[in-house]
Amino acid sequence: MFETLEVAPADPILGLTAAYNQDTNPDRINLGVGVYKDGDGNTPVFNSVQRAEARILDRQNTKDYLPISGAPEYAAAVQALLFGPEHEVVTGKRAATFHAPGGTGGLRVAGDFVHKLFPQARICLSEPTWANHPNIYKHAGVAVETYPYFRKETNDLDFAAMRDALNSVPEGDIVLLHGCCHNPTGIDPTPEQWAQIAEVAGARGWIPLVDFAYHGLGDGLEQDRRGLLAFCRTGAELMVSSSFSKNFGLYNERVGALTLVASSPEAAGALMSQVMICIRANYSNPPAHGAAIVTEVLNDSGLRQQWEGEVTEMRNRINSMRALFVDTLERKGVRRDFSFIARQRGMFSFSGLTGQQVDALREENAIYMVGSGRINVAGITEANIDYLCESIAAVLRPS
Ligand code: LMR
Repeated sequence: MFETLEVAPADPILGLTAAYNQDTNPDRINLGVGVYKDGDGNTPVFNSVQRAEARILDRQNTKDYLPISGAPEYAAAVQALLFGPEHEVVTGKRAATFHAPGGTGGLRVAGDFVHKLFPQARICLSEPTWANHPNIYKHAGVAVETYPYFRKETNDLDFAAMRDALNSVPEGDIVLLHGCCHNPTGIDPTPEQWAQIAEVAGARGWIPLVDFAYHGLGDGLEQDRRGLLAFCRTGAELMVSSSFSKNFGLYNERVGALTLVASSPEAAGALMSQVMICIRANYSNPPAHGAAIVTEVLNDSGLRQQWEGEVTEMRNRINSMRALFVDTLERKGVRRDFSFIARQRGMFSFSGLTGQQVDALREENAIYMVGSGRINVAGITEANIDYLCESIAAVLRPS
Protein backbone atom coordinates (compact mmCIF):
# COMPACT_ATOMS: atom_id res chain seq x y z
CA MET A 1 0.00 0.00 0.00
CA PHE A 2 2.68 2.50 0.98
CA GLU A 3 4.64 1.97 -2.23
CA THR A 4 1.98 3.90 -4.17
CA LEU A 5 2.70 7.12 -2.26
CA GLU A 6 4.47 10.08 -3.83
CA VAL A 7 6.78 12.36 -1.88
CA ALA A 8 4.80 15.28 -0.45
CA PRO A 9 6.06 18.87 -0.77
CA ALA A 10 8.08 20.27 2.15
CA ASP A 11 6.27 22.54 4.60
CA PRO A 12 6.54 26.15 3.30
CA ILE A 13 7.90 27.38 6.66
CA LEU A 14 9.38 24.47 8.65
CA GLY A 15 10.76 22.95 5.42
CA LEU A 16 12.97 26.05 5.10
CA THR A 17 14.61 25.34 8.46
CA ALA A 18 15.40 21.80 7.33
CA ALA A 19 16.99 23.17 4.11
CA TYR A 20 18.86 25.89 6.05
CA ASN A 21 20.30 23.31 8.45
CA GLN A 22 21.83 21.46 5.51
CA ASP A 23 23.30 24.58 3.91
CA THR A 24 27.08 24.79 4.38
CA ASN A 25 27.46 28.46 3.36
CA PRO A 26 29.12 30.16 6.39
CA ASP A 27 27.09 33.34 5.71
CA ARG A 28 23.71 31.58 5.67
CA ILE A 29 20.80 33.44 7.32
CA ASN A 30 17.48 31.91 8.34
CA LEU A 31 14.71 34.52 8.13
CA GLY A 32 12.06 31.84 7.53
CA VAL A 33 10.47 30.37 10.63
CA GLY A 34 9.19 32.77 13.31
CA VAL A 35 11.77 32.11 16.00
CA TYR A 36 13.36 34.93 17.98
CA LYS A 37 17.13 35.44 17.84
CA ASP A 38 18.99 37.70 20.24
CA GLY A 39 21.73 40.13 19.17
CA ASP A 40 24.21 37.21 19.00
CA GLY A 41 21.92 35.13 16.77
CA ASN A 42 20.89 32.71 19.56
CA THR A 43 17.43 31.64 20.75
CA PRO A 44 18.07 31.64 24.50
CA VAL A 45 15.98 30.19 27.33
CA PHE A 46 14.45 33.14 29.21
CA ASN A 47 15.97 33.76 32.67
CA SER A 48 12.48 33.81 34.19
CA VAL A 49 11.79 30.41 32.58
CA GLN A 50 15.03 28.90 33.89
CA ARG A 51 14.24 30.03 37.43
CA ALA A 52 10.68 28.69 37.20
CA GLU A 53 11.94 25.34 35.87
CA ALA A 54 14.38 24.97 38.76
CA ARG A 55 11.55 25.46 41.25
CA ILE A 56 9.27 23.03 39.41
CA LEU A 57 11.90 20.29 39.24
CA ASP A 58 12.67 20.77 42.89
CA ARG A 59 9.13 20.12 44.07
CA GLN A 60 7.97 17.68 41.38
CA ASN A 61 6.82 14.34 42.81
CA THR A 62 4.69 12.78 40.05
CA LYS A 63 4.26 12.50 36.28
CA ASP A 64 0.58 11.55 36.60
CA TYR A 65 -1.77 12.56 33.73
CA LEU A 66 -3.22 16.05 33.67
CA PRO A 67 -7.00 16.47 33.24
CA ILE A 68 -8.16 16.43 29.58
CA SER A 69 -8.45 20.23 29.59
CA GLY A 70 -5.11 20.73 31.42
CA ALA A 71 -4.33 22.05 34.90
CA PRO A 72 -7.00 24.45 36.27
CA GLU A 73 -4.31 26.84 37.59
CA TYR A 74 -2.92 27.13 34.06
CA ALA A 75 -6.38 27.87 32.66
CA ALA A 76 -6.86 30.60 35.29
CA ALA A 77 -3.46 32.14 34.52
CA VAL A 78 -4.21 32.11 30.76
CA GLN A 79 -7.58 33.81 31.25
CA ALA A 80 -6.11 36.49 33.52
CA LEU A 81 -3.40 37.23 30.94
CA LEU A 82 -5.84 37.35 28.03
CA PHE A 83 -8.68 39.37 29.51
CA GLY A 84 -7.36 40.75 32.81
CA PRO A 85 -8.29 39.04 36.11
CA GLU A 86 -11.25 41.35 36.77
CA HIS A 87 -12.81 41.18 33.32
CA GLU A 88 -16.46 40.14 33.25
CA VAL A 89 -15.62 37.21 30.93
CA VAL A 90 -13.49 35.81 33.80
CA THR A 91 -15.54 36.82 36.85
CA GLY A 92 -18.78 35.81 35.09
CA LYS A 93 -17.25 32.35 34.43
CA ARG A 94 -18.11 32.55 30.74
CA ALA A 95 -14.76 31.21 29.52
CA ALA A 96 -13.60 27.61 29.15
CA THR A 97 -9.84 27.23 28.63
CA PHE A 98 -8.07 24.13 27.33
CA HIS A 99 -4.34 23.69 27.51
CA ALA A 100 -3.41 22.74 23.95
CA PRO A 101 -0.07 21.68 22.45
CA GLY A 102 0.95 25.09 21.11
CA GLY A 103 -1.14 27.67 19.30
CA THR A 104 -1.41 25.25 16.39
CA GLY A 105 -2.93 22.66 18.72
CA GLY A 106 -5.47 25.22 19.94
CA LEU A 107 -6.43 26.18 16.38
CA ARG A 108 -6.84 22.53 15.43
CA VAL A 109 -8.97 21.71 18.49
CA ALA A 110 -11.20 24.65 17.52
CA GLY A 111 -11.43 23.19 14.00
CA ASP A 112 -12.33 19.72 15.28
CA PHE A 113 -14.95 21.21 17.58
CA VAL A 114 -16.52 23.32 14.82
CA HIS A 115 -16.50 20.44 12.35
CA LYS A 116 -18.12 18.05 14.83
CA LEU A 117 -20.79 20.33 16.29
CA PHE A 118 -21.42 22.93 13.57
CA PRO A 119 -20.60 21.03 10.35
CA GLN A 120 -22.18 23.72 8.12
CA ALA A 121 -19.95 26.48 9.52
CA ARG A 122 -17.16 27.81 7.29
CA ILE A 123 -14.03 29.56 8.43
CA CYS A 124 -12.98 32.82 6.83
CA LEU A 125 -9.22 33.59 6.76
CA SER A 126 -7.43 36.84 5.94
CA GLU A 127 -5.77 37.01 2.53
CA PRO A 128 -2.85 36.56 3.09
CA THR A 129 -2.55 34.55 6.29
CA TRP A 130 -0.17 32.14 8.05
CA ALA A 131 0.47 29.28 5.59
CA ASN A 132 -0.67 26.69 8.14
CA HIS A 133 -4.15 28.19 8.72
CA PRO A 134 -5.79 26.78 5.56
CA ASN A 135 -3.90 23.54 6.10
CA ILE A 136 -5.23 23.11 9.65
CA TYR A 137 -8.86 23.71 8.68
CA LYS A 138 -8.67 21.62 5.52
CA HIS A 139 -7.45 18.70 7.63
CA ALA A 140 -10.14 19.33 10.25
CA GLY A 141 -12.79 19.20 7.49
CA VAL A 142 -13.90 22.84 7.83
CA ALA A 143 -14.60 24.72 4.57
CA VAL A 144 -12.25 27.68 4.12
CA GLU A 145 -13.15 31.12 2.71
CA THR A 146 -11.03 34.27 2.61
CA TYR A 147 -11.49 37.99 3.23
CA PRO A 148 -9.24 40.76 1.81
CA TYR A 149 -6.69 42.22 4.22
CA PHE A 150 -3.62 43.67 2.54
CA ARG A 151 -3.28 46.44 -0.04
CA LYS A 152 -0.07 45.77 -1.93
CA GLU A 153 0.15 49.22 -3.53
CA THR A 154 0.32 51.00 -0.17
CA ASN A 155 1.72 48.15 1.96
CA ASP A 156 -1.16 48.73 4.31
CA LEU A 157 -4.40 47.24 5.62
CA ASP A 158 -7.21 47.38 3.08
CA PHE A 159 -9.70 48.14 5.80
CA ALA A 160 -12.65 49.16 3.62
CA ALA A 161 -12.46 45.91 1.62
CA MET A 162 -11.99 43.88 4.80
CA ARG A 163 -14.98 45.48 6.54
CA ASP A 164 -17.19 45.05 3.47
CA ALA A 165 -16.29 41.37 3.20
CA LEU A 166 -16.86 40.75 6.92
CA ASN A 167 -20.22 42.46 6.57
CA SER A 168 -21.36 39.69 4.28
CA VAL A 169 -20.12 36.73 6.36
CA PRO A 170 -23.27 34.88 7.43
CA GLU A 171 -24.38 34.16 10.99
CA GLY A 172 -22.74 31.07 12.45
CA ASP A 173 -19.60 31.17 10.29
CA ILE A 174 -16.21 31.68 11.92
CA VAL A 175 -13.83 34.55 11.13
CA LEU A 176 -10.19 34.08 12.08
CA LEU A 177 -8.47 37.32 13.09
CA HIS A 178 -4.85 37.77 14.16
CA GLY A 179 -5.00 39.37 17.63
CA CYS A 180 -1.79 41.35 17.01
CA CYS A 181 1.36 41.17 14.86
CA HIS A 182 -0.49 39.84 11.81
CA ASN A 183 1.36 36.91 10.26
CA PRO A 184 2.69 37.42 7.55
CA THR A 185 2.12 41.17 6.97
CA GLY A 186 3.00 42.73 10.35
CA ILE A 187 0.04 45.10 9.87
CA ASP A 188 -2.76 45.28 12.46
CA PRO A 189 -6.04 47.19 12.59
CA THR A 190 -6.03 50.37 14.72
CA PRO A 191 -8.10 50.36 17.97
CA GLU A 192 -10.88 52.22 16.10
CA GLN A 193 -10.84 49.65 13.32
CA TRP A 194 -10.97 46.80 15.87
CA ALA A 195 -14.06 48.42 17.38
CA GLN A 196 -15.69 48.52 13.95
CA ILE A 197 -14.81 44.87 13.25
CA ALA A 198 -16.31 43.84 16.60
CA GLU A 199 -19.44 45.82 15.77
CA VAL A 200 -19.77 43.95 12.47
CA ALA A 201 -19.31 40.61 14.30
CA GLY A 202 -22.11 41.53 16.73
CA ALA A 203 -24.44 42.75 13.98
CA ARG A 204 -23.85 39.82 11.63
CA GLY A 205 -23.61 37.05 14.22
CA TRP A 206 -20.39 35.42 13.02
CA ILE A 207 -17.99 34.07 15.63
CA PRO A 208 -14.49 35.57 15.93
CA LEU A 209 -11.60 33.14 16.38
CA VAL A 210 -8.67 35.25 17.55
CA ASP A 211 -5.25 33.73 16.84
CA PHE A 212 -3.12 35.34 19.55
CA ALA A 213 0.38 33.93 19.07
CA TYR A 214 2.48 37.10 19.49
CA HIS A 215 1.05 38.72 22.63
CA GLY A 216 3.56 41.32 23.86
CA LEU A 217 5.63 41.50 20.70
CA GLY A 218 3.62 44.28 19.04
CA ASP A 219 3.23 47.34 21.24
CA GLY A 220 3.17 45.78 24.73
CA LEU A 221 1.22 43.23 26.78
CA GLU A 222 -1.59 45.69 27.55
CA GLN A 223 -1.80 47.32 24.12
CA ASP A 224 -1.74 44.03 22.21
CA ARG A 225 -4.99 42.88 23.86
CA ARG A 226 -7.00 45.75 22.38
CA GLY A 227 -8.32 43.75 19.45
CA LEU A 228 -9.26 40.76 21.58
CA LEU A 229 -11.01 42.89 24.21
CA ALA A 230 -13.07 44.65 21.54
CA PHE A 231 -14.90 41.34 20.98
CA CYS A 232 -15.59 40.74 24.69
CA ARG A 233 -18.85 42.62 25.04
CA THR A 234 -21.30 41.26 27.60
CA GLY A 235 -22.75 37.97 26.41
CA ALA A 236 -20.71 37.85 23.18
CA GLU A 237 -19.31 34.51 22.05
CA LEU A 238 -15.76 34.10 20.76
CA MET A 239 -12.79 31.76 20.56
CA VAL A 240 -9.12 32.52 21.25
CA SER A 241 -6.10 30.41 20.48
CA SER A 242 -3.08 31.70 22.39
CA SER A 243 0.51 30.54 22.39
CA PHE A 244 3.55 30.82 24.68
CA SER A 245 6.02 29.73 21.99
CA LYS A 246 7.17 33.26 21.21
CA ASN A 247 6.50 35.39 24.29
CA PHE A 248 8.03 32.79 26.64
CA GLY A 249 10.44 31.26 24.09
CA LEU A 250 8.84 27.87 24.84
CA TYR A 251 8.79 26.71 21.22
CA ASN A 252 9.55 23.04 21.80
CA GLU A 253 7.47 22.66 24.96
CA ARG A 254 4.31 23.04 22.82
CA VAL A 255 2.35 25.19 25.23
CA GLY A 256 -0.70 27.08 24.12
CA ALA A 257 -4.39 27.31 24.93
CA LEU A 258 -7.81 27.38 23.35
CA THR A 259 -10.26 29.59 25.23
CA LEU A 260 -13.94 29.53 24.29
CA VAL A 261 -16.14 32.33 25.59
CA ALA A 262 -19.85 31.52 25.88
CA SER A 263 -22.82 33.74 26.66
CA SER A 264 -23.38 32.20 30.13
CA PRO A 265 -21.56 29.98 32.66
CA GLU A 266 -23.97 27.14 31.82
CA ALA A 267 -23.11 27.35 28.11
CA ALA A 268 -19.41 27.46 29.02
CA GLY A 269 -19.86 24.22 30.99
CA ALA A 270 -21.49 22.52 28.01
CA LEU A 271 -18.69 23.76 25.73
CA MET A 272 -16.13 22.36 28.15
CA SER A 273 -17.72 18.90 28.04
CA GLN A 274 -17.96 18.88 24.22
CA VAL A 275 -14.42 20.07 23.56
CA MET A 276 -13.05 17.51 26.03
CA ILE A 277 -14.44 14.77 23.77
CA CYS A 278 -12.57 16.26 20.76
CA ILE A 279 -9.32 16.43 22.76
CA ARG A 280 -9.65 12.89 24.17
CA ALA A 281 -9.93 11.59 20.60
CA ASN A 282 -6.86 13.54 19.54
CA TYR A 283 -3.96 13.81 22.04
CA SER A 284 -5.96 12.66 25.11
CA ASN A 285 -4.54 15.19 27.54
CA PRO A 286 -1.78 17.81 27.33
CA PRO A 287 1.92 17.68 28.29
CA ALA A 288 2.59 19.26 31.70
CA HIS A 289 5.98 20.93 31.75
CA GLY A 290 5.53 24.04 29.60
CA ALA A 291 2.24 24.96 31.22
CA ALA A 292 3.77 24.53 34.68
CA ILE A 293 6.48 27.04 33.72
CA VAL A 294 3.97 29.58 32.43
CA THR A 295 1.79 29.22 35.53
CA GLU A 296 4.78 29.61 37.86
CA VAL A 297 6.02 32.76 36.08
CA LEU A 298 2.63 34.46 35.73
CA ASN A 299 1.64 33.81 39.35
CA ASP A 300 4.89 34.91 41.03
CA SER A 301 5.39 38.68 41.14
CA GLY A 302 9.21 38.54 40.94
CA LEU A 303 9.29 36.08 38.04
CA ARG A 304 6.52 37.92 36.28
CA GLN A 305 8.34 41.22 36.49
CA GLN A 306 11.47 39.59 35.09
CA TRP A 307 9.47 37.95 32.27
CA GLU A 308 7.75 41.22 31.35
CA GLY A 309 11.21 42.82 31.12
CA GLU A 310 12.39 40.01 28.86
CA VAL A 311 9.37 40.46 26.56
CA THR A 312 10.07 44.20 26.41
CA GLU A 313 13.70 43.58 25.54
CA MET A 314 12.68 41.22 22.75
CA ARG A 315 10.14 43.69 21.35
CA ASN A 316 12.63 46.58 21.47
CA ARG A 317 15.31 44.55 19.69
CA ILE A 318 12.90 43.58 16.91
CA ASN A 319 11.85 47.20 16.43
CA SER A 320 15.45 48.41 16.39
CA MET A 321 16.22 45.78 13.72
CA ARG A 322 13.32 47.10 11.64
CA ALA A 323 14.84 50.60 11.71
CA LEU A 324 18.33 49.27 11.00
CA PHE A 325 17.03 47.18 8.08
CA VAL A 326 15.34 50.19 6.44
CA ASP A 327 18.44 52.41 6.96
CA THR A 328 20.91 49.79 5.73
CA LEU A 329 18.91 49.04 2.58
CA GLU A 330 19.04 52.74 1.80
CA ARG A 331 22.77 52.92 2.55
CA LYS A 332 23.39 50.00 0.19
CA GLY A 333 21.82 52.00 -2.62
CA VAL A 334 18.33 50.44 -2.71
CA ARG A 335 16.03 53.03 -4.30
CA ARG A 336 12.72 51.36 -3.48
CA ASP A 337 10.97 52.82 -0.43
CA PHE A 338 11.08 50.20 2.34
CA SER A 339 10.10 52.60 5.15
CA PHE A 340 6.83 50.66 5.66
CA ILE A 341 8.90 47.92 7.34
CA ALA A 342 9.51 50.21 10.31
CA ARG A 343 5.75 50.70 10.74
CA GLN A 344 4.94 46.97 10.85
CA ARG A 345 4.80 45.13 14.16
CA GLY A 346 5.82 41.74 15.53
CA MET A 347 8.30 39.26 14.14
CA PHE A 348 7.30 39.48 10.51
CA SER A 349 7.58 41.83 7.64
CA PHE A 350 5.98 41.42 4.27
CA SER A 351 8.94 42.69 2.27
CA GLY A 352 7.36 42.91 -1.17
CA LEU A 353 10.15 40.72 -2.62
CA THR A 354 8.83 38.42 -5.35
CA GLY A 355 8.99 34.61 -5.32
CA GLN A 356 11.76 34.81 -7.91
CA GLN A 357 13.79 37.21 -5.77
CA VAL A 358 13.26 35.00 -2.70
CA ASP A 359 14.51 31.99 -4.69
CA ALA A 360 17.55 33.92 -5.91
CA LEU A 361 18.46 35.01 -2.38
CA ARG A 362 18.25 31.42 -1.16
CA GLU A 363 20.13 29.86 -4.08
CA GLU A 364 22.83 32.51 -4.50
CA ASN A 365 23.23 33.92 -0.99
CA ALA A 366 21.93 31.20 1.38
CA ILE A 367 19.34 33.66 2.74
CA TYR A 368 16.15 31.82 3.62
CA MET A 369 12.76 33.56 3.68
CA VAL A 370 9.21 32.39 3.03
CA GLY A 371 8.14 32.28 -0.64
CA SER A 372 5.59 35.06 -0.09
CA GLY A 373 8.45 37.46 0.71
CA ARG A 374 7.82 37.23 4.47
CA ILE A 375 10.92 38.03 6.50
CA ASN A 376 11.43 37.13 10.15
CA VAL A 377 12.84 40.45 11.33
CA ALA A 378 13.78 38.79 14.64
CA GLY A 379 16.43 36.82 12.72
CA ILE A 380 18.31 40.00 11.70
CA THR A 381 21.40 40.91 13.74
CA GLU A 382 24.09 43.56 13.54
CA ALA A 383 26.43 40.80 12.34
CA ASN A 384 24.30 39.74 9.35
CA ILE A 385 22.65 43.05 8.35
CA ASP A 386 25.32 44.14 5.84
CA TYR A 387 25.40 40.82 4.01
CA LEU A 388 21.60 40.67 4.02
CA CYS A 389 21.09 44.17 2.62
CA GLU A 390 23.91 43.85 0.05
CA SER A 391 22.30 40.63 -1.18
CA ILE A 392 18.84 42.22 -1.38
CA ALA A 393 20.29 45.25 -3.18
CA ALA A 394 21.88 42.87 -5.72
CA VAL A 395 18.60 41.02 -6.48
CA LEU A 396 16.74 44.34 -6.82
CA ARG A 397 19.34 45.85 -9.18
CA PRO A 398 18.07 45.88 -12.78
CA SER A 399 20.14 43.38 -14.80
C1 LMR B 1 5.81 30.95 11.75
O1 LMR B 1 4.85 31.44 11.15
O2 LMR B 1 6.95 30.94 11.28
C2 LMR B 1 5.59 30.34 13.10
O3 LMR B 1 4.28 30.47 13.49
C3 LMR B 1 6.11 28.95 13.23
C4 LMR B 1 5.32 27.94 12.45
O4 LMR B 1 4.97 26.93 13.05
O5 LMR B 1 5.07 28.14 11.26
